[in-house]
Amino acid sequence: MKKAGIIGVGGYVPERVVDNFEMEKIVDTTDEWITSRTGIRQRRIASDSQATSDLAVEAAREALDSAGIKAEELDLIIVATLTPDSNMPSTACIVQDKIGATRAAAFDLGAACSGFVYGLVTGAQFIQTGAYKKILVIGAETMSRVLDWKDRSTCVLFGDGAGAAVIAEVGEDEGIASFELGSDGSGAEFLIIPAGGSRMPATCEVVQERLNCLKMSGPEVFKFAVRVMADSAKRVVESAGLQMSDIDVMIPHQANTRIIESSSKRLAISEEKMFVNLDKYGNMSGASIPFALYEAHRSGKIKKGDNVLMVGFGAGLTWGAAVLKWSI
Ligand code: ACO
Repeated sequence: MKKAGIIGVGGYVPERVVDNFEMEKIVDTTDEWITSRTGIRQRRIASDSQATSDLAVEAAREALDSAGIKAEELDLIIVATLTPDSNMPSTACIVQDKIGATRAAAFDLGAACSGFVYGLVTGAQFIQTGAYKKILVIGAETMSRVLDWKDRSTCVLFGDGAGAAVIAEVGEDEGIASFELGSDGSGAEFLIIPAGGSRMPATCEVVQERLNCLKMSGPEVFKFAVRVMADSAKRVVESAGLQMSDIDVMIPHQANTRIIESSSKRLAISEEKMFVNLDKYGNMSGASIPFALYEAHRSGKIKKGDNVLMVGFGAGLTWGAAVLKWSI
């Protein structure tokens, strides 16, 4: 089996910054509540003319530049998103056309906030078998389009953005060392957009009731997240043949600093090793981990040879964790 790893990263967030003080004008909330309960201070919101593929394309172009390859070299594009441009066709096909990846297959992947880790692991299988040589994995979201802007318990939490990574064969000691993907559909109701699919098509009535918007049982998701972040992180580190002290940087899903702090304690991993940028962007769902990877790489926080641990969790319920030795 060949080794698969990341050879280029890119990221994009829309220009418009909405801070907590602006949120105070939209719903009955305070900067103090949002900051103390979540750590989020601001988020980016896409312009009216931007859809998920537009954010994805920006991140994709930067990832291709960073990898030093042309779009025509791509064999496959995977877009992890819960906010596709439309239900059909896939956003991946829109991206494929916009970037001119004329040889690439393309599909969307639905695993919510765990989507990028799912996409990375899925893409890696094609590299490891030698079936494909260059794959673009993108996590991209316009969460602002599926939020209920009258529901203070959810609309303050999320933001829009995209992160991308090119994966390819890397050296024997580099790349993905272990992974774990998991699901527990018994928790499907805890994080759901009830309408707009085949169960509840979007009629005027369901839209009036905002059933086409994201609904979340915050405390249930919180408990699940704290447990799964720590447990799956421990398992992947062990199956990579490493100790937690060998991990140089951990990229947790950027949902809530309290979840991250609690995982850091349970894992006995120092907070300095945890990469956190949710204060600036909120929870960008599938874009959260790849955008954090991109920022961590760009700022020099992740260096070649580092052991990087990433852990995502989200709707489904799903989770995904991976350890990789950084190769760029
Ligand atoms: N401003 C002010 N008050 C608020 C706000 C707000 N924005 N939102 C909720 N409240 C109030 C509630 O109404 C409640 O008031 P009450 O006690 O009078 O009823 C009170 O604050 C406490 O509400 P809780 O929901 O118990 O607050 P909690 O401390 O649990 O924090 C939070 C809520 C931040 C949502 C937390 O539960 C959480 O982070 N959950 C995990 C969410 C998550 O990680 N999601 C990621 C998955 S994303 C994906 O896959 C798409």
